[in-house]
Amino acid sequence: MDYKDQINLSKLPKHIAIVMDGNGRWAKEKGKLRVFGHKNGILSVKDVIEGATEIGIEYVTLYAFSTENWNRPKLEVAAIMEILISTIHKETQTLIDNNVRLNVIGNINALPANCKRELNEAIDKTAHNYRLTLTLALSYSARWDITQAAKTIAQKVQAGELQLDEIDENLFSKHLNTHNLPNPELLIRTSGEHRVSNYLLWEIAYTELYFTNKLWPDFRRHDLFEAIYNFQKRERRFGLTSEQLT
Ligand code: FPP
Repeated sequence: MDYKDQINLSKLPKHIAIVMDGNGRWAKEKGKLRVFGHKNGILSVKDVIEGATEIGIEYVTLYAFSTENWNRPKLEVAAIMEILISTIHKETQTLIDNNVRLNVIGNINALPANCKRELNEAIDKTAHNYRLTLTLALSYSARWDITQAAKTIAQKVQAGELQLDEIDENLFSKHLNTHNLPNPELLIRTSGEHRVSNYLLWEIAYTELYFTNKLWPDFRRHDLFEAIYNFQKRERRFGLTSEQLT
């Protein structure tokens, strides 16, 4: 089935978040090193972003490196950073040509200096693009983000800049790294794992979850279209009854 033709373009999710999982297993299946999986995962990233812009998705957020990923073998961490740096370097012009804005969430200060430099350069060069915002979650975990937001708010209260009764969900959201993104309507995780792994925990309160057995390096735009098609078949009730919705 050609899912692209079946998608209702007037009911697209504005923001799709993705947990790109299964690179290591994909490589292992082929008798290769894990890094081979990560390198091939970049082809999926490119195809999915192209597919997303093609149909008019406005925000895509990719879980590229979690806080917990720092605990992987040193060589793998170094290889992932290398892939990240070279991909950003090579693809910045493609982002510009396609009117894609690059954005980052996470503890960017924990990244190697050359990686930070490359990212900041690409962020600056694409800052005025508006067709799609591509956010990379790097050295990111939702609990880290929630904790840093709580700390900042506490400091403001302590300094007398903020009153306790001014704190509500809206104010809290504004202190998260995701403050400039709408909440995702759809979260996709590849590789058959049914977990959210410390990803966007605050933001996915009402997000539809979609799991596929495909490993990330096998995931392509038609898989994205299938996920969107599946999403559009669901009834989102936000705590209401079906009758209230109609
Ligand atoms: C999970 O597969 C994938 C990752 C940890 C992401 C790797 C990140 C990159 C290659 C950099 C991304 C760069 C850009 C520009 C988006 P896994 O290793 O957990 O696979 P497994 O579960 O099969 O072991």
